Amino acid sequence: MAARKIITTQVAIMGAGPAGLMLSHLLAKAGIESTVIEIRSHKQISETVRAGILEHGTVNLLVDSGVSERVLREGDRHDGIELRFHGESHRIDFKELVGESVWLYPQTDVFLDLAARRKADGGDVRYSVTDTTVNDLEGKPRVWFTDAEGVEFEIQAEFLVGADGSRSYCRRQVPEASRTQYFHEYPFAWFGILAEAQRSSDELIYASSDNGFALISQRTETVQRMYFQCDPKENVAEWDDDRIWAEFRSRVNGNGFELKEGPVIDKMVLPFRSFVHTPMRHGNLFLAGDAAHTVPPTGAKGLNLAIQDVKVLFEGLESFYSNGSTASLDSYSDRALERVWKAQQFSYWMTTMLHTPTDAGDFSRARQLGELNSVVSSKHGMAYLAEAYTGWPGAR
Ligand code: DHB
Repeated sequence: MAARKIITTQVAIMGAGPAGLMLSHLLAKAGIESTVIEIRSHKQISETVRAGILEHGTVNLLVDSGVSERVLREGDRHDGIELRFHGESHRIDFKELVGESVWLYPQTDVFLDLAARRKADGGDVRYSVTDTTVNDLEGKPRVWFTDAEGVEFEIQAEFLVGADGSRSYCRRQVPEASRTQYFHEYPFAWFGILAEAQRSSDELIYASSDNGFALISQRTETVQRMYFQCDPKENVAEWDDDRIWAEFRSRVNGNGFELKEGPVIDKMVLPFRSFVHTPMRHGNLFLAGDAAHTVPPTGAKGLNLAIQDVKVLFEGLESFYSNGSTASLDSYSDRALERVWKAQQFSYWMTTMLHTPTDAGDFSRARQLGELNSVVSSKHGMAYLAEAYTGWPGAR
């Protein structure tokens, strides 16, 4: 059998999602070498439907680091959202409350922009690899993999970054005694659809009704993205278009507001849980994004958190390679986790405030409406939501 081909690099990155590619891009700009490997194909990643809200800090990083200005041209700036309950909509005006906005720009497009930029810059990104194993995490990490053509490689690196998603292989290499994991399960999931329909609203609508939560989002002039709260064991095959639209109508329509309906072209059940793995470092392995933490989708923090991790990790690596200091790498986990827990709190809060537990008694539902009313009737309540949704002030 042929000997493994050796790739020598500074940073090996597992995972070519937005986190892995953004890190590789920032490192390249700073003259630091990296090799990215990914078990999925480029096509598979680009066909996965994901969330669509970018905080202003995420957009700034994409634009300032020269990834793409497409987000500014094709993304939609949203200056607020609507909270809808008891048949009435209440606008949370981000611009007025905290002077910030978010952008509706699908995560898939962030991936496409980053992948195109890495390719144009001659970055070493290998999709569709198999048989990955890692060794020597506490010394000089080595990564074995087989590429799409069946050639076997060994990457010899100084650091390994696990940006390999919620089912992270890298995370599972951390010995049990060296980590703490935090979990929270929720008694519901989201039923997500893409529909060929006109926009029902210019802004996102987060609706809490006695029949459960629904979220009205958008994609293009002719394709819309929407979700409704469902049972985690819900089977999409049992839902035809009529049943789906009846469910949305019962949660959102009323008082003169009517959803614009059309053929459903995609449907899926999205899992729902909160998870944090600490610390986000083991030896020379650093975890970033979903590999280290997942949040429920309410509030769309997942991608934004991943990009923020990468920004903090990049600062650590850049400082190490420019002046030999490990201080910033040593504080990576603590610095990243500060924001991770803020996002956990926000996603948990938005989720529990807006979703109706199936076994909720009258008290729970009435209290929930009290909570929603106390938020929308207080400038400070709305500003708390607006700050967190847009990405917190003084975000680093
Ligand atoms: C979308 C997803 C979210 O989880 C959210 O809070 C807002 C928007 C989306 O896919 O458009």
